[in-house]
Amino acid sequence: MRKLTFVLLIAFFAVAVLRAQEGPPQGGAQRGGAGARAQKQAQAEAAERGRKTFVATCAGCHGEDATGGRGSDLIRSALVRHDKNGDLLSPVITAGRPDRGMPGFPLGEKDLSDIDAFLHAQIDLYDMHTRVPGGYPDDIPASRLATGSAEAGKAYFYGAGGCSKCHSPTGDLAGIAKKYSAPDLQQRFLYPAGKPSTATVTLPSGKKFSGTLLLKDEFTVAIRDADGWYHSWPLRAVKVEVEDPLAWHFAQAYKYTNADMHNLFTYLETLK
Ligand code: HEC
Ligand code: HEC
Repeated sequence: MRKLTFVLLIAFFAVAVLRAQEGPPQGGAQRGGAGARAQKQAQAEAAERGRKTFVATCAGCHGEDATGGRGSDLIRSALVRHDKNGDLLSPVITAGRPDRGMPGFPLGEKDLSDIDAFLHAQIDLYDMHTRVPGGYPDDIPASRLATGSAEAGKAYFYGAGGCSKCHSPTGDLAGIAKKYSAPDLQQRFLYPAGKPSTATVTLPSGKKFSGTLLLKDEFTVAIRDADGWYHSWPLRAVKVEVEDPLAWHFAQAYKYTNADMHNLFTYLETLK
């Protein structure tokens, strides 16, 4: 599973390389001016909300990236691909297929349309990855991938990309290109792993608990506090604020243009 995602990401990058070599990208984000950009932004935000709902509600069966598990692969699902604005998807979600192992989920219109946005964005990402004939080997050398402009990547890092708000090339990212192979580094900056969410739970009395978020579904929230104690509450009895340190990265994955991603990677490859 991880390996598949990984190979697809490499292919995605390779497409970015090929496109960048052909000249400036022709993508909607660059072409359409302010209106198209605002629309892309709104879609990215809906997809990001949808991802959260999907991870909390559907991922246990369909996998966090919707490629399946106990439930079917929704990326290759003809039903999802033929769906227009939820016309096919929403009825399956709300009614479920109880006889075949999927319960119904009584979600509201907004959650349904966000999940729809997430699944379609996810399909677009995967299709971009796989549009490469023949597939790609695991060990693409950095020299073949890092052919963007390191200077433009650096400008993006400190400017539009906002990376420098959380990272520093002489601090946490110093030597990052030595630490990871080129394909690894690509995957890391698109989908970094390993930082759990934290949650602050406020009880009706006003008493607050904070810690690592272990579970939040429709009914329950559970955390482990700094001393290692497990706590859980019925969700409706408390107020919960969740902070996902990787939320920015996941949302950003839908927003990069090919050129941004390519220049940025070329810049990161210089951090040896
Ligand atoms: C308890 C496990 C489980 C959960 C949770 C679950 N599903 Fe499913 N889902 C399944 C199974 C199993 C199938 C395959 C049913 C079948 O064979 O027709 C399925 C089928 C589907 C299909 C039909 C795919 C197709 O090509 O026919 C869609 C769409 C879908 N699920 C979406 C979702 C979404 C969105 C959520 C979250 C709101 C969700 N599922 C939550 C188990 C689950
Ligand atoms: C809102 C804060 C935030 C922003 C903005 C941000 N990141 Fe991150 N990034 C993180 C966190 C948190 C991690 C996980 C760090 C960890 O596991 O130590 C991470 C991880 C990474 C990693 C993997 C580091 C490793 O050692 O595995 C790379 C590479 C990275 N980010 C690059 C970028 C780039 C490039 C940008 C700008 C396009 C960016 N980040 C913007 C918060 C941010």
